[in-house]
Amino acid sequence: VRRVRTQHLRELKQRGERFAMLTAYDMYTAEVFDEAGIEVLLVGDSASNNVLGNETSLPITVDELLPLTRAVSRSTRRSLVVGDLPFGSYQRSAEQAYDTAVRFMKEGGAHAVKLEGGVEMAPQIELLARGGVPVMAHIGFTPQSEHALGGYRVQGRGETADRVLADARAVEAAGAFAVVMEMVPGDVAAQVTAELSIPTIGIGAGAGCDGQVLVWQDAFGLRGGRMARFVKQYADLRGVLSEAARSYADEVRSGAFPAAEHTF
Ligand code: KIV
Ligand code: NA
Repeated sequence: VRRVRTQHLRELKQRGERFAMLTAYDMYTAEVFDEAGIEVLLVGDSASNNVLGNETSLPITVDELLPLTRAVSRSTRRSLVVGDLPFGSYQRSAEQAYDTAVRFMKEGGAHAVKLEGGVEMAPQIELLARGGVPVMAHIGFTPQSEHALGGYRVQGRGETADRVLADARAVEAAGAFAVVMEMVPGDVAAQVTAELSIPTIGIGAGAGCDGQVLVWQDAFGLRGGRMARFVKQYADLRGVLSEAARSYADEVRSGAFPAAEHTF
């Protein structure tokens, strides 16, 4: 198997072929998604609110996300593994971003990193790209800036479409190899996708993007509760696991497990 490289994603875009990205935070999901042909695995800071029990992505630290990144990179043979830079670990300066990114590559085994922001992150993206760190940008709704943006809301409606376009152009010019667009109107995302030569990856940005990304616990139904409109649920893992846990407990209580074949 050949590793997916940033260049392959660009070639897919040039051929008009779409690709898939999912989050992954541990060994078995990384193995399964890798074997299923998911081109890009993101060790998202969404581990904060999908693995570590926090309410948002804000509290997770570099030291918490690095071991998960290492688990994923060790468990893939083909997928491109992207480490997501946590809030506060890159915004202060390009040098800070570089030091953090290097940790994700050296200690985490990531092949690339992702950071949130457009025009204002150009210095970070430039230094990383010059220093051998492939950068995936993330524009539109950027969850780490939830409090600055005034909550979870679509970005780029009406007149603010220009802002999304400016951010997209800036991250491409700075040297990003791809850009995630989150909660952006479909027509704006399609326009960005047509204009840029780097691949766009949508989440809540419509079918006009070159790739799509979802948080796996959302897409495969492990998380409970209300789901964002942009999520499609492909499985009910919460139901499967709940059923399995109940059956196990029932059999332990009744004495049906362990049976003779499980006993030495
Ligand atoms: O952390 C994450 O899961 C993400 C994706 C949803 C793009 O940033
Ligand atoms: Na993220």
